[in-house]
Amino acid sequence: MTRDPSADIRINAEDIRRRKGGVPIVCLTAYTYPVARLLDPHVDLLLVGDSVAMVLHGHATTLGASLEMMIAHGQAVMRGSAKACVVVDMPAGSYEASPAQAVTAARRIVEETGCQAVKLEGGVDIAAQIAAIVAAGIPVMGHIGLQPQSVEKDGGYKIKGRTQENIALLFRDAEAVEKAGAFSVVIEGTMEAVAAKLTHYISIPTIGIGASVDCDGQILVIDDMVGLTVDRVPKFVKEYADLRSAVADAAARYAAEVRSRAFPSPDHVFTTEPGKDET
Ligand code: KIV
Repeated sequence: MTRDPSADIRINAEDIRRRKGGVPIVCLTAYTYPVARLLDPHVDLLLVGDSVAMVLHGHATTLGASLEMMIAHGQAVMRGSAKACVVVDMPAGSYEASPAQAVTAARRIVEETGCQAVKLEGGVDIAAQIAAIVAAGIPVMGHIGLQPQSVEKDGGYKIKGRTQENIALLFRDAEAVEKAGAFSVVIEGTMEAVAAKLTHYISIPTIGIGASVDCDGQILVIDDMVGLTVDRVPKFVKEYADLRSAVADAAARYAAEVRSRAFPSPDHVFTTEPGKDET
């Protein structure tokens, strides 16, 4: 399929913002060209999440993501998609220090990938960064609730919204992200009833992951969703395929056929004159 990068058929951040309260917004993470091509016809939004550091690069946390890593994967996902709104995560360390640092990193991501928006984690604490990036003309998706970039500070992956104090903070965070100009916000790992209330409290779409069916959209990590995750699969994941078994089975059959010299068979080698059996 030939892609025309100038064809303006992509869903953009404003299209997503307008979907508040409507048909749920379908989001998945994507990190590579072939997976983006497979997902693009089915989703509204592809997130190049910093989860790529764990999922594809084997880091223990998302803190292993770098700006260069996010840009390389953002470019691959842009090449593999034509319709979805592509959002690229800002990695830890690229935006917290100041609004100026955040704008510099966000500009680099957008200029080098061509993506539609960036995402950053935090609420009240990074509202100034969101406002500055939006003022620079770059749409921002927020991310509140469980924030994987804060996992070391938090002492683990802790579900949010369990205490009155934390619920009050979540409402302050949601409001701060909305007021700073974000076009939508991910709510991760948050008690169901609280995520539902947050969705009704703010005017921008909420995208849930381990949150509530009442959110305006849902997102999952692609490798979790297709059953490729080899380590612990979180409770909030539904596996819609079992690629772990499919890949292990294919590898076992290939290994057996190589060892028995059943592969390559005559179908998979070149035996006739040029032009007859080229690939
Ligand atoms: O990095 C990521 O994949 C994310 C999603 C879990 C929302 O931020």
